[in-house]
Amino acid sequence: MAPKISLLFLAMAALHLLAQSTQAQQPEPVNDFCKAATHKELCTKMVNGSKTMHDASKNAMENTLVAALKLQSMSDLIPPALSSMRATTQESILATCQDNFDNTIYDLELGLESLEKKDQRTLLMHLSAATMSDCTDAFAEMGADVPSALSTEMDYVFKLVSNCLAVVQQK
Ligand SMILES: *[C@@H]1O[C@H](CO)[C@@H](O)[C@H](O)[C@H]1NC(C)=O
Repeated sequence: MAPKISLLFLAMAALHLLAQSTQAQQPEPVNDFCKAATHKELCTKMVNGSKTMHDASKNAMENTLVAALKLQSMSDLIPPALSSMRATTQESILATCQDNFDNTIYDLELGLESLEKKDQRTLLMHLSAATMSDCTDAFAEMGADVPSALSTEMDYVFKLVSNCLAVVQQK
């Protein structure tokens, strides 16, 4: 009976579509090199389908470097947030934050170099040094709030660095 068959066919096609759309909504499976990461979904995006530890580490650090460069370019948000303070205090906080952002970039660049030299100990040292605390501490010491756009980007870079540490140490 032809109508029955086409109904069955339609039902199967509908099920197939449903299965596909459910699949599309699910997040990408966690990359093998991201199993120990705190932010696994973000990590999986960072390593971008890498099949080797080297490529995963390189992609993770390169993507972190891009975000760290963006953060560095946002330091002009700092002075307006400190306008009620003494000029020397403003300069001091700005300098601390700029050093912090510069050092993070430097540590990521040397981390990438260490990866190519297969120097795991130096790599870990640089990634561990690439934190975001100095700038935040400088604001906190003066009882000032970090501008929210800057704070968001700092948190993001910090998550990326944390993921890099997990990737390069993934067993
Ligand atoms: C992932 O890899 C593709 C292809 O190599 C590249 O075009 C893309 O920019 C990469 N994305 C990230 C986030 O690294």
